[in-house]
Amino acid sequence: MRTIRVGLGERAYDILIENGMLAKIGTDLKQRAIAKRYVVVADSHVAELLGGKLMASLAAAGVSAEIITFPRGEASKHLTTVAELASKLAQMGLDRKDALIALGGGVTGDITGFLAAIYMRGIPFIQIPTTLLAQVDSSVGGKTGVDIPEGKNLVGAFYQPRCVYIDSNVLMSLPPAELLNGLAEVIKYGVIYDAEFFRYLAKQRQAILARDVAVLEEMIARCCEIKAAVVAADEREADLRRILNFGHTFGHAVEAASNYAMAHGLAVGLGMVAACRLATGKGIFAKDQAEAVCRLIADYGLPTEIPSEFSPQQIKSFLKTDKKTVGGRPFFVLPTEIGKVVITDAVSEELIDTVLGG
Ligand code: GLY
Repeated sequence: MRTIRVGLGERAYDILIENGMLAKIGTDLKQRAIAKRYVVVADSHVAELLGGKLMASLAAAGVSAEIITFPRGEASKHLTTVAELASKLAQMGLDRKDALIALGGGVTGDITGFLAAIYMRGIPFIQIPTTLLAQVDSSVGGKTGVDIPEGKNLVGAFYQPRCVYIDSNVLMSLPPAELLNGLAEVIKYGVIYDAEFFRYLAKQRQAILARDVAVLEEMIARCCEIKAAVVAADEREADLRRILNFGHTFGHAVEAASNYAMAHGLAVGLGMVAACRLATGKGIFAKDQAEAVCRLIADYGLPTEIPSEFSPQQIKSFLKTDKKTVGGRPFFVLPTEIGKVVITDAVSEELIDTVLGG
């Protein structure tokens, strides 16, 4: 088992990674004694797929737990779902000595974390991410929340889990498109933080795409180490944590232009390519390095060209309304070499037009 500590003082916690982890969670949780009673929150699909295994592991270790579900999909990431789940918890008599367990992908983790943050003014919660995207990104770092009609993730809280359990084995049944969705965020870590990891991803591409479980575990662990280091240094995204938004400025704009029909990871892949082109256009990133990043993204099967159905004007209008703008100006995370980035809003309209081909 690999253990990665997220060093946040009083709110520090462990990320535990192991192939087959799901079956061992009961024993580990019993020892940690975080709560006297647990409620597992999952969408109906994940509950059917993995709920039985988790509940069996908890029961075998003598951990008192029940499971509640909500309908699958981003449409559930809504305040009404949180309100309905809160009512269920109250009806079950859950109190402050109890805890929630998020079993699922990013939507489940975000909803459950937010619910834990506000139910009885805060109860502990545990993350068991079951998609690659959630394992390498959303389950670590304490961003929780829901969408409102005015925008995604506009209501939420920074609220750290007490523990994150990652089982690389659950990725074996993940649909290929979901794997790809997470791989864009994996490549992101190499470009923003770790040139050696970038080379590892190029070298291990076939093993990763073939879902070699040992390689996946190593890959996930490195992503979590990087995310843990960044979050420990800047929990509330005052500065350093913003590097995790590499590829997200254009990525969010493309996602929004597609009315969220495009998967987040695919949009982030396109955003990373656009950011590399901006950086070379500004003369701060060597062309051969930018090509290497774009090649790796393409080699993993992620798209690299923004679909022509989205006009440059459309993308630009979404760039301006993204919640990551500062004083109305979008900011960009731009590479200066593989493994290093800068954060800047000093990008001319002309350069954006050139990159968008407008
Ligand atoms: N997903 C970006 C962050 O957690 O800051």
